[in-house]
Amino acid sequence: MPLIAGNWKMNLDHLQAIALVQKLAWSLKDVKHDFGDVEVAVFPPFTDLRSVQTLLAADKLSLALGAQDVSPHLSGAYTGDISAQFLSKLDTRYVLVGHSERRHGHGEGDDIVAAKAKAVATQGMVPMICVGETAADLEEQGAAAVPLAQLEAAIAALPKDAEFVIAYEPVWAIGSGEPATAEQAEQVCAALRARIAELRGAKVAAETRLLYGGSVASQNVAGYLRQANVDGALVGGASLDSQEFSRIVQFKKHVTGA
Ligand code: PGA
Repeated sequence: MPLIAGNWKMNLDHLQAIALVQKLAWSLKDVKHDFGDVEVAVFPPFTDLRSVQTLLAADKLSLALGAQDVSPHLSGAYTGDISAQFLSKLDTRYVLVGHSERRHGHGEGDDIVAAKAKAVATQGMVPMICVGETAADLEEQGAAAVPLAQLEAAIAALPKDAEFVIAYEPVWAIGSGEPATAEQAEQVCAALRARIAELRGAKVAAETRLLYGGSVASQNVAGYLRQANVDGALVGGASLDSQEFSRIVQFKKHVTGA
């Protein structure tokens, strides 16, 4: 099933989070969105998670809850860190690991990303592993080399039967208003799927969802989802606007023109 994920980054306090989720739920209800057809997940800041979880449960909303980061450790003297155990208790389904804003802004290398992915999987949640090349990588090595290396490093630590999602996010496309073309996204996602097949077998490769992220909006989402190897989108800025995010979730209407 396709997955549309909204990464709010460091935006919206817990009251604003409740308002946004309510508005999103209303707009999706208005268009009779079928959550069994396209899965929708939101990734609020840590301080909003409990409020959003409570709202989802009280109103029986079918949105999945995601977290933006996690500690590689499960408990102990790690001031400021958040354990995968805590996230799991909040009914969190997905956890982003290796987002470029963590890799580049916080110096997180492949080893830390792998340890975080493992912590998430061992607590029964699904790591959403972000991979992507910088503009310099693209010029020097082409688009796929860095994402493939990041993929390998991250899944090496995962238990063999662990579900994971890969988000291909070219760093140059994030928040830049300069999205990759649908063909560029397809090319890298196809290479990622082929590598997953080598590492985990054809069945896992076919079942693993590969998302594209980087300046996704309602006008361009359908182009990505039309590609054979793109199974969803990781949306940043545009997920903060309930109307726009709802239009992105309804990408099938743009694809089929229905
Ligand atoms: P953007 O962010 O949609 O604002 O480019 C995507 C992301 O960072 O996940």
